[in-house]
Amino acid sequence: MTKAYERLLECYRCFQEKIDFKPKVALILGSGLGDYADSIQIEATLDYHDIEGFPVSTVSGHKGRFVFGYVKDVPVVIMQGRVHYYEGYSMEDVVLPTRLMKMMGAEILFLTNAAGGVNFDFHAGDFMMITDQIASFVPSPLIGPNIDELGERFCDMSEIYDRDLCQLLRQTARELEIPLQEGTYIQLTGPNFESPHEVRMCRILGADAVGMSTACEAVAANHMGMKICGISCISNLACGMTDQPLSHEEVKETADRVAPLFKKLITEAVVRMGEPLSF
Ligand code: HPA
Repeated sequence: MTKAYERLLECYRCFQEKIDFKPKVALILGSGLGDYADSIQIEATLDYHDIEGFPVSTVSGHKGRFVFGYVKDVPVVIMQGRVHYYEGYSMEDVVLPTRLMKMMGAEILFLTNAAGGVNFDFHAGDFMMITDQIASFVPSPLIGPNIDELGERFCDMSEIYDRDLCQLLRQTARELEIPLQEGTYIQLTGPNFESPHEVRMCRILGADAVGMSTACEAVAANHMGMKICGISCISNLACGMTDQPLSHEEVKETADRVAPLFKKLITEAVVRMGEPLSF
């Protein structure tokens, strides 16, 4: 058994001792979007600090806990705050919570983040459904001995974002009359925002939004066979696309502004994820 898997099992045992709950959907909340967790029917919470060996986030605006509860009848586990590669954690640490949520029983991973818009058609405050990703600028979380218990060594990445879940999000947004952009997300390491030419590079590579998370978690989840979907909140246009310098405050302000719509979209989408997919 690999060290990484042993550690994961330890965290899982710690969870089992404290919480009796089997989620169907795992939701990771991005910068400024964490308040969503407070709006569900909460059954239990578990601070990351209380899980032995668990990586703990240091970014302001990120709470560090799992929230267990129901969105209508659908059992969910929510990560209120994630850990980022730029904080100095290894990729193994960064994806440990994602792996743990799969072990808890989650079949679906719903990723959210705040991201910079790279596509000139986007505006601050837009939502973008992630249809594919570029993770090549960060190390793969699958580097190192393969965890055979989780998945295979050379895993396929041809449909990271599940087609049926994408269709579900599309349809939900349409019915709620919430505009939903679609595109490719690129993960860079951060923590600095990109330079104008790095943003140009992202665009040339085919990215529509840029951020500092998510893609690595999707790789780890795909390795384990989870069904994945994701939404980026375009908190700003990326560097060089406007005259204004970027700030984390701007990211949080936009996220706050769109929070009510985000809540509506996420809630309805999760409810539908509780039903058998009908596509
Ligand atoms: N770049 C990278 N990450 C981000 C951005 C950005 O412009 N906005 C929010 N997260």
